Amino acid sequence: MQSIRIVLFFLLCLLLTSAFTAPAEEGRTLYDHHCARCHGTDGTRGLLGAKNLQKSQLSDSAIFIQISNGRRIMPAFKKRMNPDQMTAIANYIKSFRKL
Ligand code: HEC
Repeated sequence: MQSIRIVLFFLLCLLLTSAFTAPAEEGRTLYDHHCARCHGTDGTRGLLGAKNLQKSQLSDSAIFIQISNGRRIMPAFKKRMNPDQMTAIANYIKSFRKL
């Protein structure tokens, strides 16, 4: 009986840690899939005039709008992902900043 409790406790811990680490991981995965071909995995590639995301100063809402609607050459992503995913990416790209 005791060992079942211990196993259940570990399963619960696993569940909780994955719930808390998921958003950052999700942002990275989505970014690498959708954005890195222009912006590069570290935000500096600059293909087709893509802005350097390490130097970007956009506010959270401006980043969200840019991902959602696109701008000039940058495509809109609102049909390809949901708002939570766009927020996860926005948080991830802010971690590139070196201010
Ligand atoms: C086809 C190439 C391309 C892809 C794919 C792309 N971008 Fe861009 N991105 C650009 C270009 C070009 C600009 C400059 C457009 C402008 O703002 O004038 C830009 C600008 C930006 C900016 C504005 C930076 C600033 O300071 O003005 C952000 C933020 C950004 N991209 C994030 C993303 C994210 C996040 C993704 C993936 C969801 C993505 N981009 C995918 C080409 C791309």
